Amino acid sequence: MSIQKPKGTQDLLPGVVEKWQYIEEKARDICARFNYKEIRSPIFENTELFQRGVGETTDIVEKEMYTFLDKGDRSMSLRPEGTAGVVRAYVENKLYGEPDIAKLYYIGPMFRYEQPQAGRYRQFHQFGIEAFGSTDPSLDAEVIAMGYLFYKELGLQGVRVEINSVGNPSCRSVYREELQKFFAPVKDQLCKDCQSRYDRNPMRILDCKKDQAHGVGAPSILDFLDEECSTHFEKVQRHLTDMGIEYEINPRMVRGLDYYTHTAFEYKCAGIGAIDTISGGGRYNGLVEQIGGDDQPGVGFGLGLERVLLVLEAQAVAIPAGRPLDAYMIGMGEQAEAEVAKLLFRLRAAGLTAEKDYQGRKMKAQMKSADRMQARFVAIIGDEELAQGVIALKNMATGEQVKVTFEEMVTALSDK
Ligand code: HAM
Repeated sequence: MSIQKPKGTQDLLPGVVEKWQYIEEKARDICARFNYKEIRSPIFENTELFQRGVGETTDIVEKEMYTFLDKGDRSMSLRPEGTAGVVRAYVENKLYGEPDIAKLYYIGPMFRYEQPQAGRYRQFHQFGIEAFGSTDPSLDAEVIAMGYLFYKELGLQGVRVEINSVGNPSCRSVYREELQKFFAPVKDQLCKDCQSRYDRNPMRILDCKKDQAHGVGAPSILDFLDEECSTHFEKVQRHLTDMGIEYEINPRMVRGLDYYTHTAFEYKCAGIGAIDTISGGGRYNGLVEQIGGDDQPGVGFGLGLERVLLVLEAQAVAIPAGRPLDAYMIGMGEQAEAEVAKLLFRLRAAGLTAEKDYQGRKMKAQMKSADRMQARFVAIIGDEELAQGVIALKNMATGEQVKVTFEEMVTALSDK
């Protein structure tokens, strides 16, 4: 029996990969404009990093990590998200020693052992940004605005921004108690997961699909924010309004990770089956210290790229195809073929995209290949051309044919 790809993974084949490249290019371009620099951290890290960073009581750490012992008996995990690893790298490389704040971005695979469905995979890809070293609310707003602009520039329609404040640890602990009081009378009726969440992380009950009815009328975190938190939240909103970014406040938004403080946000969009959250992020002021660094604040987002593609597809947004083929070269006879191999190298070295046949096929089959590859020109060397030291260039769009010398070929193709 042949071996198949693991459940929840995808082979990204030519034809589709070009779409990924396009989206990744757009991501790099917007990062340059917002002055974020790329960071590449390892795909696997010590398991403890995610336990400490993402949180022991989160579904991600409790149920979804790909954890294994390496040959030295160390517990390692494939990264389930990007923030923890970037924070670790920020601390380990002492980037907080720099005079300017650190604005970093990454694009790469993440791994979660989840039940696959449309928009949910076991290996998926995130484009994420993380900004460290400032509590300025304009930075929260910048991060939110940048994700919004990214989607807009890709041509996604109907992306909504939802924001919330999850406060700081002190207002949150008061809120947690209030939530426990609220859920106490129905505790026995909650699902099994939520019964254990009741003690460990009651805010997460608000996020449970099964217990939604029990959450109706639950107290709102926004009524428990202290002055610092509510001022911060108001300023974030003001900056968003100033930039013309529309948003809705969703006081019930609970992100699936424990590190958030103050601002939490999500982008929502219809088009992927049951999933409407296409990405999210927030501020995490205690995380750097928790990972063992200085007390430096941070804020960022993680955008799932599979979800971007699914929405683009659902909305039939055209994505530019990859680079076209400038020339398909055909040589007739052994000597002409040798000439083609030589000239092809010259074309490629000059920056043009070019291809030839490698299977000894007849002229007609080669012309068909040129068609399939959508070559702009077919360049033919037959006996006659070989004798004259020229090449016949056929413009595939117009059918027009000219003869140029071998020396003129690069210029001729570059000009057209
Ligand atoms: P998250 O909400 O867990 O946040 O994931 C962010 C995004 O990654 C999701 O909204 C979704 O687009 C994508 N995603 C997550 N799991 C899957 C999956 N199984 N299949 C496909 N896509 C998925 C974080 O990961 C945080 N690190 C974001 C962040 C960065 N917060 C601050 N900085």
